[in-house]
Amino acid sequence: ANKLGSKKERTLAMIKPDAVTKVGDIIQMIYDAGLIVTKAKMTKLTWKQAADFYMEHQSKSFFNNLMQFVTSGPVIVMELMGDEAVSVWRRVLGPTDSSVARKDAPNSLRAQFGTDGTKNAGHGSDSLASAARELEFFFPSTAGHGPSNTAKYSDC
Ligand code: PPS
Repeated sequence: ANKLGSKKERTLAMIKPDAVTKVGDIIQMIYDAGLIVTKAKMTKLTWKQAADFYMEHQSKSFFNNLMQFVTSGPVIVMELMGDEAVSVWRRVLGPTDSSVARKDAPNSLRAQFGTDGTKNAGHGSDSLASAARELEFFFPSTAGHGPSNTAKYSDC
């Protein structure tokens, strides 16, 4: 924590296929919440990638439904940074089920851009530990993944 008692965190945000056309509004919501976007990319998940990403839910009844939905089109994944980024981003998202979000948090992202318990517009890491795993999943820190990674001198 810094001297004001706040904690700079990083979290993984995913815009799901149903909300990708709303990326402009969503990035505005991120900045309005005091967070910044430090990495971003669009990708289309394979079934296997989606199953790896959501492995903690593999035994849930909704798992196939979730796989079907998140592989149905491109997603946009972002690293967000800021004070208490994990909880702030989840507050911006609102309740998991968009129909609940429309009643309980009408200004939330899921209320505005999602539909129901399946088509719910976005995802956010639920803890610092999940954020570390999910950021590594989409933005691996290993050398050789692009210009933001610097090769070590010993690699030359
Ligand atoms: S749990 O059981 O409390 O861990 O589940 P929950 O946190 O509510 O949801 C975990 C993720 O699964 C998604 N989900 C669903 N997807 C498709 N269909 C149905 N019925 C469904 N129910 C839950 C939910 O959106 C969560 O995804 P993320 O991407 O983490 O928000």
